[in-house]
Amino acid sequence: MLPKHYTRIVLAERPKTDFTPTTFLRETVAFDLKPGPGEVLVRVDWISLDPAMRGWAGWPMEVVTYIPPVEIGAVMRSFGLGAVVEVGEGCELRTGDIVCGLTGLAEYAVMKEGERLQKIMAPESNPPGVQLLDFLGPLGIAGGFTAYFGLLDVAQIKAGETLVVSGAAGQVGSLVCQIGKLYGAKVIGIAGTDEKCRWLSEELKIDAALNYKSPSFREDFKDAVGYLDVFFDNVGGEILNFAITRLKQGARIALCGAISTYNGLETKGITSYMNLVMQRAKIEGFVVSDYSRRYPEALRDLSKWISEGRIIRRYHIIEGLENAPEALPLLFTGGNTGKLLVTIFLRPRRCYANS
Ligand SMILES: NC(=O)c1ccc[n+]([C@@H]2O[C@H](COP(=O)([O-])OP(=O)(O)OC[C@H]3O[C@@H](n4cnc5c(N)ncnc54)[C@H](OP(=O)(O)O)[C@@H]3O)[C@@H](O)[C@H]2O)c1
Repeated sequence: MLPKHYTRIVLAERPKTDFTPTTFLRETVAFDLKPGPGEVLVRVDWISLDPAMRGWAGWPMEVVTYIPPVEIGAVMRSFGLGAVVEVGEGCELRTGDIVCGLTGLAEYAVMKEGERLQKIMAPESNPPGVQLLDFLGPLGIAGGFTAYFGLLDVAQIKAGETLVVSGAAGQVGSLVCQIGKLYGAKVIGIAGTDEKCRWLSEELKIDAALNYKSPSFREDFKDAVGYLDVFFDNVGGEILNFAITRLKQGARIALCGAISTYNGLETKGITSYMNLVMQRAKIEGFVVSDYSRRYPEALRDLSKWISEGRIIRRYHIIEGLENAPEALPLLFTGGNTGKLLVTIFLRPRRCYANS
């Protein structure tokens, strides 16, 4: 039975720096959602909070993007996972199917069937150890797939190489660290608290974890890393600038993101780039959706590694759609460890992540 009203969160204004309490507006409106031909109505059970949402709300710097910003007054864009509750004419999806895609911050969403709406295997046919919310984390586009293609395809990591990962205790970073270990690299992670560093060293069993807020960070980096073959960068800014001074010949830098710049507060550019010349190094940005044809390959390998217990994942779960706007800034203050999710209709006791 569909409710008489539903709640959604719309973009009220473009943030100038950080998200603020006036960036979003919560609206509870009469239920008027009806799927047309080729569309389905989805009840959104889980929402993924991602750094990209800062850009989708409007970049504070000049950038030509792969997707236009959300219009003011429109439902804020986000990945989500839920169940199909009504099916429009001519659809292959069925009521009860579990799907994942750009649902937005709303309890219900009408979505087009097709490439951008992925049908998830029924829970009983998932490989052992795989759970539904993994499809927004290690088996999701902005999580596992980003880590997988960024490290294996863009950075081309090889056994015996030294890999350094920034944002290492976040969702992408923690997966890059573990895939790096699976491929036989020496892995050093960088994160913003001692607790995160302990988690990386003790549970993810990487070779070393460095707190970039420590006054001795640069010395610690030199001691633990020496010089590096691959830098997987989620953070940009000063950390990237410093990492470029520590390259081996032929090093590769995969630019996944630059979260330190998203609020427009970190303004310094790269000054150490002559080292790219001296070390004949490559620096390459990527956007995961360019790999969409190869998602099945990432899904196959990542699900296998989860089933074999070779990938640990950690979820930071916020309860209730109304709390999503307040939770989003955690990504920028370092308040999350692992994947940041919001549960709407399902409660966390139903989730059984292994960390
Ligand atoms: N290229 C693509 O296709 C693609 C796809 C998905 C994600 N991404 C990018 O991947 C990166 C990681 O995304 P995620 O979803 O995995 O987020 P996340 O790492 O789970 O969360 C963000 C983390 O970044 C760190 N951080 C925030 N501000 C920082 C700063 N000023 N300096 C250093 N670290 C800072 C914080 O950890 P600390 O406590 O360690 O500071 C925070 O917990 C982002 O840059 C995102 O935009 C790119």
